[in-house]
Amino acid sequence: MRTEGDVWDIVSSVGLTALGVATFRALEAAGPDPLIEDDYAPLFVEAAGEPHFTGLLADPSALDGTPLVPGFMGFRTKFFDEFFLSAVANGVRQAVIVAAGLDARAYRLDWPAGTTVFEIDQPKVLEFKEKVLVEHVAQPKADRRAVAVDLREDWPAALRAAGFDSDKPAVWSAEGLLPYLPGAAQDALFEQIVELSALGSHLGVESFMTGTDVKRFATIESKYFDKSLFGDIDLAELFYDDERADPAQWLTENGWTVRAFSPAELATAYGRSAPELPDELTDLWQQPRYLTAVR
Ligand SMILES: C[S@@+](CC[C@H](N)C(=O)[O-])C[C@H]1O[C@@H](n2cnc3c(N)ncnc32)[C@H](O)[C@@H]1O
Repeated sequence: MRTEGDVWDIVSSVGLTALGVATFRALEAAGPDPLIEDDYAPLFVEAAGEPHFTGLLADPSALDGTPLVPGFMGFRTKFFDEFFLSAVANGVRQAVIVAAGLDARAYRLDWPAGTTVFEIDQPKVLEFKEKVLVEHVAQPKADRRAVAVDLREDWPAALRAAGFDSDKPAVWSAEGLLPYLPGAAQDALFEQIVELSALGSHLGVESFMTGTDVKRFATIESKYFDKSLFGDIDLAELFYDDERADPAQWLTENGWTVRAFSPAELATAYGRSAPELPDELTDLWQQPRYLTAVR
């Protein structure tokens, strides 16, 4: 269960979900005809040594018949990769990866000279990430700045202290984050991002439709798959399902131009066929789940 101000490292609570998605990125990148490249994801998984995810990396056959999360990770990562690259192609030179986890975009993407990439996450998550990257002498392709702070605290102050300039446009992502925040923190997050966003800023969001959908996702997952994709983590225990504003509607009302894409649309755009999903999951495939917003 979540508590106010709870903290975690990379092998506990919400931190483990960052390791999980890194595992799914590593598997996508190592699979046939991958949608993405990520040489760093397997390094993180191996370094963490968590048995479930290390086991999946060594033998992905346990995922056979579970198209949902692994399939989504390829689309999701490619979508946000393209989103960031499109914003910097339009001249933006500040990127903020909110809840960065083990996202290695600062190392993977070809950022234009002069780009700063800020990564916000909890301190122990970023410490683990830093340790692995230093051990492997990884070189970022941008000016990468880790911002160790909880998103339920005064993260804008920490971001500014790290050199963020709110007079200049920025490109932001909130990928794989929203259900882990209480509703009030999610609403505050969007308000704070908007406050910090000069004209010409871009925001990419992975949006579950409602808290109810979030719980349903976890319940359906455990019903269909004998082994949870996330091992011993019960995602439903980590998610909040309290009331919050709908990001697409709220951003539109606040003057942003929003576009929304479903996993099905991304699959088509990326030349992938639809996975065979149980009837109860097909609506998740059609939901407008990936948003881009520009002001
Ligand atoms: C599922 S992971 C996604 C990580 C990354 N965005 C990705 O897609 O690979 C969720 C991330 O959100 C971070 N997170 C969740 N709640 C947070 C909070 N209150 N403060 C800081 N980070 C938070 C976790 O530490 C974790 O790294």
